[in-house]
Amino acid sequence: MADYSGFKVGAALESADGRIFTGCNVENATYGLTVCAERVALFKALSEGIREFRRVAVVADTLAPTPPCGACRQLLWEFGGDLEIILANLERETSRHQLRDLFPWPFDSRLLREGIARS
Ligand code: THU
Repeated sequence: MADYSGFKVGAALESADGRIFTGCNVENATYGLTVCAERVALFKALSEGIREFRRVAVVADTLAPTPPCGACRQLLWEFGGDLEIILANLERETSRHQLRDLFPWPFDSRLLREGIARS
């Protein structure tokens, strides 16, 4: 649903048990409340009770790969850990990455627990 930018993105997230959860970007009149395809797929899976993931594919109709934005990297890391990220356009896979390489110094719940323990 990319009625404002026209930039359509699709994501397919695979759970540890092999189920595929898909998502597309959902734009809206506020612009700023847009949710990316990756987070839509992630929230669909989380809301179905899925907690372990293997990999996510992100597809856009571009020559260059479309990597997940910062917000998506944060949430994919928190709920999926070091996922494999597969980037593709409509013709072919363009590249593969590990999330830890795209998101090398994450803020996550371990840091929260450490902070609470010190106070
Ligand atoms: N977008 C995604 O859905 N995933 C990405 O990985 C990059 C960007 C969307 C958000 C917005 O609807 C449009 O692409 C342009 O930024």
